[in-house]
Amino acid sequence: MFVLEAQNINAGYNDAIIVRDVTVRAKEGEIVTIVGPNGSGKSTLIKSLFGLARLFSGKIFYREKEITKATPWEAVDLGLGYVPQFNNVFINLTVAENLEMGAYLQGNRKIIKQDKEMIYQMFPELYARRKALAENLSGGERQMLAIARAMMAHPKTLLLDEPLAFLSPKVANLVLTRLLDIKNQGTAIVLVEQNTRKALNLADFGYLLVEGSCIWSGEADQLLADEEMNYKFLGLNQEGGYGEKAYN
Ligand SMILES: Nc1ncnc2c1ncn2[C@@H]1O[C@H](COP(=O)(O)OP(=O)(O)OP(=O)(O)O)[C@@H](O)[C@H]1O
Ligand SMILES: [Mg+2]
Repeated sequence: MFVLEAQNINAGYNDAIIVRDVTVRAKEGEIVTIVGPNGSGKSTLIKSLFGLARLFSGKIFYREKEITKATPWEAVDLGLGYVPQFNNVFINLTVAENLEMGAYLQGNRKIIKQDKEMIYQMFPELYARRKALAENLSGGERQMLAIARAMMAHPKTLLLDEPLAFLSPKVANLVLTRLLDIKNQGTAIVLVEQNTRKALNLADFGYLLVEGSCIWSGEADQLLADEEMNYKFLGLNQEGGYGEKAYN
């Protein structure tokens, strides 16, 4: 059964259609990744699943319940989490306060405290920095905080927009390890990434978006193995370097 199923999505902003006829599905405990060149509509697609971009047509189902018209807060209530690409932490709040902001639908302080402890076990780096202002965190710590804040609402599906951006390979690998832990707890992850090779290596299933349309979807390792797609659209050659015709 798919936990999240978005069918034939046409989405954008105001009168502009950016994403055209895209279908994305995720199963429980599965990581699916949406990759593609800059400006291809990846963020717009993920925002449309969370009620943040204009949906012109298409249907969205969450655990077989139609949520096409759901607002972001209704989506959170149902079990969707979203971590935006930019400005995804409250820089003037501490790590602990950011986590508490993530629990805004939870009224019981005892449960919030327990949830924070659970998060600190999952992200020991954040426990060490719990009293630090988010603006003083490293890039990797910030991304972990953004993910951890979303986890405070106990999402069963997590939408992540480029959590590896600007991270060193070592820190990116650490964040990926945490994403695998989250997946192994049964949470589905929809991951938008520019770091194509890392994302496809981690993911079970992949979608390649080019100029708003999905031009390829399938098992992530098949996309990695497809030399033409890699060379033309992902800028990867066999050695993992960048091909001449790469868009990004
Ligand atoms: N809020 C907005 N209002 C109007 N147009 C927007 C808005 N956000 C993005 N766009 C436009 O939508 C198109 C797709 O942008 P989007 O951010 O979805 O691409 P992306 O694949 O996420 O790119 P990147 O890899 O750079 O993050 C671009 O032409 C962009 O200018
Ligand atoms: Mg984007």
